[in-house]
Amino acid sequence: MAERFYVTTPIYYVNDAPHIGHAYTTVTADALARWHRLLGDDVFFLTGTDEHGLKVQRAADANGLTPVEHADRYSARYREAWDLLDISNDDFIRTTEPRHYEATQKLMQAAYDAGYIELRPYEGLYCVSCEAYYSEDDLEEGRLCPIHHRPVEMLKEDNYFFQLSRFAEPLLDWYARHPGAVGPESKRNEAIGLIRGGLRDISISRTSIQWGVPVPWDPEHVFYVWYDALINYATAIGFGTDAGRFEAWWPAVHHLIGKDILRFHCVYWPALLMAAGLDPPAHINVHGYLLVGGEKMSKTAFNQISPAGLVPTFGVDGYRYHFLRDQAFGPDGEFSYEAMVARYNADLANNLGNLLARVATVVERKCGAIGPAPDPRSALKAVVEAAYPQIAGSWERVAPSEALDATWRLVRETNAALEAAEPWKAEPGPAVDAVLGDALEILRIVAVLASPALTRAAQEIWRRIGLPGSVLDQRLPDAARWGGYPGGLTVERGQPLFPRIQS
Ligand code: ME8
Ligand code: MG
Repeated sequence: MAERFYVTTPIYYVNDAPHIGHAYTTVTADALARWHRLLGDDVFFLTGTDEHGLKVQRAADANGLTPVEHADRYSARYREAWDLLDISNDDFIRTTEPRHYEATQKLMQAAYDAGYIELRPYEGLYCVSCEAYYSEDDLEEGRLCPIHHRPVEMLKEDNYFFQLSRFAEPLLDWYARHPGAVGPESKRNEAIGLIRGGLRDISISRTSIQWGVPVPWDPEHVFYVWYDALINYATAIGFGTDAGRFEAWWPAVHHLIGKDILRFHCVYWPALLMAAGLDPPAHINVHGYLLVGGEKMSKTAFNQISPAGLVPTFGVDGYRYHFLRDQAFGPDGEFSYEAMVARYNADLANNLGNLLARVATVVERKCGAIGPAPDPRSALKAVVEAAYPQIAGSWERVAPSEALDATWRLVRETNAALEAAEPWKAEPGPAVDAVLGDALEILRIVAVLASPALTRAAQEIWRRIGLPGSVLDQRLPDAARWGGYPGGLTVERGQPLFPRIQS
């Protein structure tokens, strides 16, 4: 039976335009979804936009728009960015949709009925950019938000509180019983540290704003944006509207998030689910920041880079490949245009592009453009057999950079084998056929294995070496077994797949 693979990105705020940081999480989720489709899994890939809260209300005011008009415009920009990057999401959720109101109200009502939510007066220091209260200790010098380095504001109101303090033990138990739930390890330790450091009850409603999901038992209040936001992951698989569907998909989810929202996903969200009588999410994968000039990108730092600024130069494939290959999932990484050019030229133009060009040229000259079959006893067979488990294991561990590194080992070894054999200098015959057949077989296998990153070039390689149909219809591990290239197919030379970029 096919396994289920449910993968999510954060839902992005509609107060900001998509930049390479948002795209990093989304492209990674997309590559994982594509890998799991190759495995034959039943995949559900969710992304979307987070449209409530004071920040959005203020951004709308500043632009002379209603919150709905503002949300419509910005949400569309995310959908355009994801179209540009060949993101294959199965659903795009907006927190302003009726299905989400229904799910949020039902989930919160369950936590309220179970006695975990109560009304209290509240006064606190609030960062509008985070949509979160801070305690004095969390702030930087001069009462600045530790994330945005901007002044916090004193807010006072009656709020519903979620009794998070009652969940320290249950959460620590859950972490102990699910050692693989949060990765990488350093981020799991950070989450456990936050819980051990003590949990205070948290405010989850506002009366001061209207732009949000009404609290069902007290409609003067709306839920604080984070509480409605987290529930999107349940809404999209039918919580509150289709119980059977929800039960089939939950809790085997893979949340992908940046470390800025670790506390919300690794502490608040599992606790809220427990309060509502549901299981915490099975996997939370946390990555670091993409830095520009040593700093996190932000509107206020004027250092945002948009995907649309890079795709015209690098193509969709060059764009995706760079971020997946060069920005390891977990630690922070500095974005560098020079490194992006270098990676493109080395791995795509020189290694993969050159392999395809060479093979196609020599097949044309020595084999009348008909690709020969691979040698069943080729030395490259063993190389593939050693690499495949590493590649599959790396995708499984959410380490695309390692998976692609191991995939490119096949390309490098094959280029080296061609250079050693020099078929371009030899007379046509069985020796030349064998070496070219092997190279075509590697190109076939690499087209499949690289397709989660190279959404376009993978299919183009597939087509040029004469294979019919779509690379997306191949199934692993079978498609990575040596001997799949049948031989006797017409090979097409074509234009360079990855023209070199001058730096
Ligand atoms: O936090 N480097 O939305 P958001 C890497 N709506 N990733 C980055 C990044 C960077 N410099 N900047 C942003 C929110 N990201 C909430 C989420 S989820 C229930 C609600 C990515 O628009 C990264 O995934 O501020 C980060 O966690 C997310 O964008 C924050 O997006
Ligand atoms: Mg943010």
